[in-house]
Amino acid sequence: MRVLITGSRGQLGQALQSHFSPSHQLTLWSRPEHDIAQPSIADALAALAPDVVINAGAWTNVDAAESSPDAAFAVNSLGPKYLAEGCARCGAALVQISSNEVFAGELGRFYREYEEPGPGTVYARSKAAGERAAGRVLDRLYIVRVAWLYGPGGSNFPSKIGAAADKHGKLRVVADEFGNPTYAPDVAAALERLLAGERYGIYHLVNEGWASRYEWAAELLRLSGRGHIPLTPIPASEWPRPAMPPAHAVLVNQAAAAQGIRLRPWQEALAEYVKNEAPKA
Ligand SMILES: NC(=O)c1ccc[n+]([C@@H]2O[C@H](COP(=O)([O-])OP(=O)(O)OC[C@H]3O[C@@H](n4cnc5c(N)ncnc54)[C@H](OP(=O)(O)O)[C@@H]3O)[C@@H](O)[C@H]2O)c1
Repeated sequence: MRVLITGSRGQLGQALQSHFSPSHQLTLWSRPEHDIAQPSIADALAALAPDVVINAGAWTNVDAAESSPDAAFAVNSLGPKYLAEGCARCGAALVQISSNEVFAGELGRFYREYEEPGPGTVYARSKAAGERAAGRVLDRLYIVRVAWLYGPGGSNFPSKIGAAADKHGKLRVVADEFGNPTYAPDVAAALERLLAGERYGIYHLVNEGWASRYEWAAELLRLSGRGHIPLTPIPASEWPRPAMPPAHAVLVNQAAAAQGIRLRPWQEALAEYVKNEAPKA
């Protein structure tokens, strides 16, 4: 398959690159040369005419989006629209990566693919608008929602928790925000299988199970030999942010699982990440 990866320098982009090479013919695009927020990206894509485009590019600074909504919408909403336009012109399929945060995230709710989004923050609204914008242009479209993504070499929750634990010797972590810790290399592997089936639609590719931020941090510390570091659970209200995330935007993989595509439990994936990547205490 001829696969184009946009936003290829991010943590998912890197994981896709590792997984899809060398068995597929890869083209890697990143900004500033290939800025998905520019309408001309559609022309460049149509000229390249790949089989599949995986858009791993996004405005991912959730807090900064609150004060720069136009810039966030340009990347997260117009970007997928332009890519979908380019795909429509050359017959390519598009994988638009989206987020668990498109859901309102009410406590106790578990969100399957058919649920209606109810985005709260600017970032979440921009991602939900990106899903709709691509869907209006293209039929050969996969909307792939992921959650709490981390991967080798990225700046992410596990890497920050490890660094903060070493710096401060103790931690306070939010215990009433829940999600699916999801390992980017596992998403890449699942995506390859999904693409082989050519069943377009909405998918939730997350590692099995869910956790609070506190539980995720505790498991990371335990696995990385830092289990002795005191960890205090706190409510999200004691960790105010410009963009308050949904409390329980926990995804369920129903649609890919129906095709036999499941990601392993999050604890197993985290153990592999720690073994390979995280600096030990
Ligand atoms: N991280 C999470 O917890 C999480 C959770 C749910 C969903 N997601 C979604 O998963 C996807 C991948 O996230 P990630 O964690 O891999 O993000 P990431 O590491 O922040 O990577 C995003 C990439 O997008 C690039 N980018 C930004 N603006 C661009 C533009 N205008 N044109 C082209 N590329 C642009 C960035 O370029 P630079 O390298 O130049 O900055 C970066 O390489 C995104 O769609 C995100 O919304 C992530």
